[in-house]
Amino acid sequence: MQVERARELGLCFGVRRAVNMLRDAARRHTGLQTLGPIAHNHVLLQELAALGVETVDSPEHLQGPAVVVSAHGVPPSVMHRLADRGLNVIDTTCPNVARAQHIVAELADDGFTIVIFGDSGHTEVRGLLGWAGERSMATLSVAEASGLLRRGPRGRLAVISQTTQRLQEYVEFARELCAAAMADTEELRIINTLCDATVRRQAAAAELSRRVDVMIVVGGRHSANTRRLAETCATIVETHHVETAAELNEAWFTGKASVGLTAGASTPDSVIDEVASRLERA
Ligand code: F3S
Repeated sequence: MQVERARELGLCFGVRRAVNMLRDAARRHTGLQTLGPIAHNHVLLQELAALGVETVDSPEHLQGPAVVVSAHGVPPSVMHRLADRGLNVIDTTCPNVARAQHIVAELADDGFTIVIFGDSGHTEVRGLLGWAGERSMATLSVAEASGLLRRGPRGRLAVISQTTQRLQEYVEFARELCAAAMADTEELRIINTLCDATVRRQAAAAELSRRVDVMIVVGGRHSANTRRLAETCATIVETHHVETAAELNEAWFTGKASVGLTAGASTPDSVIDEVASRLERA
């Protein structure tokens, strides 16, 4: 089977940076704990667990002395709680997420109502909501976002995006919200907080999807950016999302001459290589 990799795929600089910081910290501290998974990939988390890194779900369960904030970031209230407890915080928040946090904090200070185009249950978005303050919401629905605006005084509205959303969907959302909300708004700002690594991976995956018979997307089932890569490819060609090579199914390749390969931003290189070599033998 002819296998072609997308021209950009796999670990992004933000996750690579976080993992390197964590490995470095694990050499200096025993019993290192991360608040939530450092990234949404089982294989990566198992590799870190082998270095003695434990994942805990709640700030109350962190024991220290050194604790790690994940690449997705946290609300400022959590940072303050950790500092108040005297814990040594190793902050691996991705610089792209940190930029979005600072943007919403400044907008909130300037009196903007803030709409975050994103999944309200995702760790990054929960963090952003904390930075954005009380007059903010996260949604993927234009109707919900315009409802928020109608509840408050006519004023200033800012729209940002979860970093890993799809460009085209954010453009559509912003366009529709603009049409729905402009009459109730004095000023409307739309800010591009999409992650450039994600946008480039999505473009590369779409380009490859047009040239192959089937696409394989490798990455964690809970990884938002991996799921969106798979959604992007599936609009163009038959697509399968797997976490590891063990999930590949030979029936997917019957009668096919070429397969394209892409991977989410938290997928380790070793997992991508294993999937590629399995596909080459298919
Ligand atoms: Fe950061 Fe983008 Fe990766 S936001 S963690 S560089 S997917």
